[in-house]
Amino acid sequence: MPHRPVLYNEIIHALQPHQGGFYVDGTVGAGGHAWGILEASSPDGRLLGLDLDPHALDLARERLAPFGERAVLVQASYITLLQQLKALGWNAVDGILLDLGLSSMQLDTPERGFSFQADAPLDMRFDPAAPVTAADLVNDLPENELADLLYRYGEERKSRQIAREIVRSRPVATTRQLTQIVARAVGRKASKIDPSTRTFQALRIAVNRELEAVEDVLPKAVQVLKPGGRLAVISFHSLEDRIVKKFFRKESQDCICPPRQPVCTCGHKATLAEQNRQPITPSEAEVKENPRSRSAKLRVAERRSMPS
Ligand SMILES: C[S@@+](CC[C@H](N)C(=O)[O-])C[C@H]1O[C@@H](n2cnc3c(N)ncnc32)[C@H](O)[C@@H]1O
Repeated sequence: MPHRPVLYNEIIHALQPHQGGFYVDGTVGAGGHAWGILEASSPDGRLLGLDLDPHALDLARERLAPFGERAVLVQASYITLLQQLKALGWNAVDGILLDLGLSSMQLDTPERGFSFQADAPLDMRFDPAAPVTAADLVNDLPENELADLLYRYGEERKSRQIAREIVRSRPVATTRQLTQIVARAVGRKASKIDPSTRTFQALRIAVNRELEAVEDVLPKAVQVLKPGGRLAVISFHSLEDRIVKKFFRKESQDCICPPRQPVCTCGHKATLAEQNRQPITPSEAEVKENPRSRSAKLRVAERRSMPS
């Protein structure tokens, strides 16, 4: 039995699923949160579950089978949200969940190439049919672009040294090779965090264009939420959380003119009401049971009524 997904109770509390409601889980994974949403919206709430990963969808399909046609599962990116809803004839929805990043199942499947703890081809694609793998990036990017990527998406301070060592060691085909390269470039382990952590994070984000996807989906989510509908986003690192926080802040304000401007010229109207200024984080008990949950941050916003 797969373990409980991160912040499970908090998600159900945030989305307040109800009978007859329409919900989207944009990152359905193994269907843990989706199961809770369907259960809480019984007997007739409906859920659209999206995931780029066909293996995750197989698990979700099995897990959500008891809900029959109430669950619709599609292999697609959440950035296609508007098309997916249109195809179903759903005009607006009551709640949207995005549980960003990769699943434990993906991390624990060595051949997916996400983990530096196992040796496997450098892949890291959520969608196995996507055009670019991590191996393509490390072997094809010019050194300065590779360094920028490691710095931007991994916040890796030794990005230049690592990029130089990667270029010197090409071709790089496996996760083991990459961890050895990083170890050579940064020297001995100085902290509790493995020296490869940031490099692997950066490559995964770049391969799957994760930050672009989050930027893209947030306004679409607002567009399709019913007034009073909730958007809940769980992020696992500061780059994602910053995007969500900035978006929620901006969309919770009526005017977004620069602070010194005496008269409003932007005409911006708040579309969201932020439900928590500080992100919700897992309890100590949850972190103890599932250490990977420790960096999770949940932000929740409610769709305001349309201005008349
Ligand atoms: C943290 S897991 C979600 C776990 C899920 N909440 C559960 O209860 O099992 C994140 C999932 O998002 C998927 N994913 C990542 N980027 C995506 C995107 N742009 N569109 C759809 N799914 C995506 C990954 O393949 C992964 O299965």
